[in-house]
Amino acid sequence: MESSPDIGHLQAILLVGGQGTRLRPLTLGTPKPLLPTAGVPFLAHQLARAKSFGVERIVFATSYRASMFREAFGDGSAFGLRLEYMTEETPLGTGGAIRNAAQALTCGPDDPVLVLNGDILSGHDIHAQVRLHQSRGAAVTLHLTEVEDPSRFGCVPTDENGRVTAFLEKTPYPVTNRINAGCYVFRRSVIDTIPEGRVVSVERETFPGLIEAGELVLGYIETAYWLDVGTPAAYIQGSRDLVLGRLRSPAMPGPCGEYLALPDSIVSPEAKVSGGSVVGHGAIVEAGATVSGSILLDGCVVGPGATVIDSVVGPGARVEGGAVLSDVVVGDNAVVGARNELLAGARLWPGVVLPESSVRFSSDV
Ligand code: GDD
Ligand code: MG
Repeated sequence: MESSPDIGHLQAILLVGGQGTRLRPLTLGTPKPLLPTAGVPFLAHQLARAKSFGVERIVFATSYRASMFREAFGDGSAFGLRLEYMTEETPLGTGGAIRNAAQALTCGPDDPVLVLNGDILSGHDIHAQVRLHQSRGAAVTLHLTEVEDPSRFGCVPTDENGRVTAFLEKTPYPVTNRINAGCYVFRRSVIDTIPEGRVVSVERETFPGLIEAGELVLGYIETAYWLDVGTPAAYIQGSRDLVLGRLRSPAMPGPCGEYLALPDSIVSPEAKVSGGSVVGHGAIVEAGATVSGSILLDGCVVGPGATVIDSVVGPGARVEGGAVLSDVVVGDNAVVGARNELLAGARLWPGVVLPESSVRFSSDV
């Protein structure tokens, strides 16, 4: 990986204050960036990647369940990083969070600062993004990628020189498939112009304001592996892609392959586990069970002959004999009684017990 001298001391802000509402019930007790993903907290992948590009110091912009981040990552020395934590009493929005966290930066006004949304898996070249930013003297340089449905993201048209001409957050009328991929390089002094102590959205206020004022906002376009893990399906996909090696992460706790079994898990030799699944610490997969593309969290049990496809089974939960789950989230310590079928986006709240089913539901699977 090519490096340039001024990138070695790059500092970063990581935005991790969101509530992760779309990932409930998984995020009721654990913030989205800490959900186990391919066997480690999601953020471990982002931190390891940032480090691989020479980032040494990262300021966490926290709000929701702030103390859990410090408990998980401490001062960062175990990861070869220096970590700081800046907490908002009430969430200040993405822009307010960046402004607040910037108090802990130690770089100068003209230095580049990397800002990362805390729910993104990306294989893009951070060095190339920073180099573009520096060589063009931009105020902000946004990583842009392409998706099929841009209406769920920030839609970002550019001119032929890469200059961003508009920033349209979650517009029902996207003008391009290019979207904001949630990784920015800011000139430090530009962060200092964000109003202090109030809610500010970078997407709805700061970026449109900079464009309006004629500042150079640049797009760095790279369509490498990219995923926002904001929904259960995307969270499962991210974990699966890491286990299968579709995105390489220095934070993987074991070799890539059909599945990842964490220490103290038990997989019966008569079970079939595949498709990038993870079997968590102390989790058990019993004989005749089929698990594909799924995340089995710590201490859960998949009973004999049960089928779990593209689903998350929460910590301590039980899926009893012959039950079938496809595209489902089972909350902590919940029980899916024998022979139940749960399909297509069903979510079982923590501790809920679904009694065993005597009749099979009809279904189209
Ligand atoms: N500290 C702090 N305070 N962090 C926040 C706050 C806040 O008030 N609000 C959101 N965040 C963090 C979230 O934790 C997340 O890491 C990041 O900011 C983005 O918030 P999301 O809620 O995940 O936004 P989104 O996915 O709907 O949209 C954003 O990301 C898309 C790419 O995935 C926008 O930046 C879009 O423009 C972008 O396309
Ligand atoms: Mg998001």
